[in-house]
Amino acid sequence: MTFFMKTIQNKYISLESIIKNRMRIKQSSIQTIKAVANVLEIAEDFLTLKKKGTNWWSPCPFHHEKTASFSIAPAKGIFKCFGCGAAGDAITFLMRYENATYTEALEYIAKKYNIEVEYDKNINIDEAKKEQTERESLLIILDFARSYYQDILLNSQEGKIGLSYFKERNLRQHTIESFQLGYSLPMWDVFSQMAIKKGYNPEMLLKAGLSTFQEEKKQYLDRFRDRVMFPIHNLSGKVIGFGGRILSSGDKKQAKYINSPETAVYKKSEILYGLFQAKKSIQQKDECILVEGYMDVISLHQAGITHAVASSGTSLTKEQIRLIKRFTQQVILIYDNDNAGIKAALRGLDMLLEDDLNVRIVLLPTGEDPDSYVKEVGAESFLQYIQQTAQDFIHFKTQFYLQESNSPLKKAEAVKEVVASISKIADPLKRNYYTKEVAQKMDISEEILIAEANKIILKESEKNNQSPAWQDTETEDENYSSTPLEDTAIAESPLAYQEKESMRLLLNYAYYEVENSISLCQYLLTETEDIHYQNPLYNQILHIFRTELEKGNLVNMDYFLTHEDPQIATTVTQLIAMKYQMSENWLLKHNIKTTTEEETLQQLAFKNILRLKQRFVNKHYEQLNQELSKTDIEEDQDYLLIKAIELKQIEANIAKLLGNVIFR
Ligand code: CTP
Ligand code: MN
Repeated sequence: MTFFMKTIQNKYISLESIIKNRMRIKQSSIQTIKAVANVLEIAEDFLTLKKKGTNWWSPCPFHHEKTASFSIAPAKGIFKCFGCGAAGDAITFLMRYENATYTEALEYIAKKYNIEVEYDKNINIDEAKKEQTERESLLIILDFARSYYQDILLNSQEGKIGLSYFKERNLRQHTIESFQLGYSLPMWDVFSQMAIKKGYNPEMLLKAGLSTFQEEKKQYLDRFRDRVMFPIHNLSGKVIGFGGRILSSGDKKQAKYINSPETAVYKKSEILYGLFQAKKSIQQKDECILVEGYMDVISLHQAGITHAVASSGTSLTKEQIRLIKRFTQQVILIYDNDNAGIKAALRGLDMLLEDDLNVRIVLLPTGEDPDSYVKEVGAESFLQYIQQTAQDFIHFKTQFYLQESNSPLKKAEAVKEVVASISKIADPLKRNYYTKEVAQKMDISEEILIAEANKIILKESEKNNQSPAWQDTETEDENYSSTPLEDTAIAESPLAYQEKESMRLLLNYAYYEVENSISLCQYLLTETEDIHYQNPLYNQILHIFRTELEKGNLVNMDYFLTHEDPQIATTVTQLIAMKYQMSENWLLKHNIKTTTEEETLQQLAFKNILRLKQRFVNKHYEQLNQELSKTDIEEDQDYLLIKAIELKQIEANIAKLLGNVIFR
């Protein structure tokens, strides 16, 4: 768990750095940085790794697990998780782990290795700098406002009304201070006036969302008036916005809460209220309680339930989920007991499953919210209630829809809803478990559920044009792995396997000599010249190899790992990681040291090309057969038959050649 601490201490992802991302790092600089980047050293900044064999291992930071499936192969400069399939190089590690951009990742490495980063000058640095200082100014002004509202609440006569409001709601002095609560006076422009007098730029007051401008009177007005103030902090504790609540609960003319508008520093969808105060506790408890309101968070904290945060009345966003995931995978959502609200909320929650979070749901007794309920029963009973009633999300959803489905049509709808959620679960074992559970609960056959889920998964993976999840590979003869549909959505065909294998060899050993100073790359590229691969990404990669080679450039895997097309980068990363996985399997299985691939490269390449051609021929042959069965025209039949015979001959030749290859 130490890696979380490091993420936080590491101030690298700062607001300032975001602005820098607008600048482009010089290509020469990128090369230098890439050359020194050591994936092991970089991962060690965040993870505790243990050496086992030639590689280093730890629990995977990208999915929840107790075992160590995450590995680093320093020699190759890549990481790979055998659990979730995450893979990449030092740069992608930082991008994923720190949610960093490409530029940020490069800058991190540069800083670590004391390399000076040079930026392309044709990007408007002045503009970027201006933005950077603007952000800094906004943070300064917001902090000034925070201390101003706080001072009024705690130290002024006029603030007593706010203070008594909080006291009435049972908040203690310590709580009020630690959440930096405040009060805004019931006047039109005292804050704006005072801030301007102190020298703050009125333009910045507007940009910070603290003031508004009244056109007619040409006057700056305060956004927050006569409200208790809840400062909203970012992860490092800087105030980035406010929520202000009216004092009376009966006033229907005014909004109960006014919040800061979106500004350069406040993006509502990327913030969870209370996370700054809660993060440590979330990490320690390895659990996060998600509630709806500011007061809920504060009350729970005061009661000692310090791992609560709020989405501030909006539905959860991807960014918020990512935030939570930096600290824990266990999320408990607490909802008020109202059906319409729950149904709306349930829709958005599949996202949590996609991100492999364990989600449980708690419904409070009717009429209560976390704030009122914890006050009523106390922390201990509150936690007990949660433990006793928390239902896992899929179960909850099943139950919820079952209650509502009183007709066959409704039931079909319910099944669809639940299956949609199940299909989002990344872990096949978990998916399997839920399928069984839900089938039983809904009294429907498992096969139907699996079929429904597969339909959705297949659709999704087609949409993303992704190759399905990681597949085990062995280079042993005739052995290709086709993982059941249930697990990976799409089974791999023999041809697909050979295509992948040839790409793997190409990327790993492009410039190894296979024969009389012919490189593997030359050999493979020549042999596959008139083959069109099924996988369009492979064709792209081959095309890059060819065109670069024609220009006299030797491209290697580094070139692809940071390719601008993320699909290519990912594909290549996975292909590179495969070799490593294979030899690990081998090692385990035979409990011996294997001969390295390098030693048998020539045969490997030769064999792969033959197999690849064999698979293509087979496929053609099948196609011919199909065409043959469709046509009644005699000339066409003759033509197809001749072609088929040709193919059979080619196939026989290949088989003979293959038979002569001595392997291992
Ligand atoms: N909210 C908002 N604007 C509103 C109403 C609500 O932004 N007009 C957001 C606030 O972040 C609020 C949350 O939604 O904290 C939950 O709303 P609600 O349950 O109505 O308020 P509580 O937090 O329970 O506040 P209180 O207990 O003071 O009534
Ligand atoms: Mn409330």
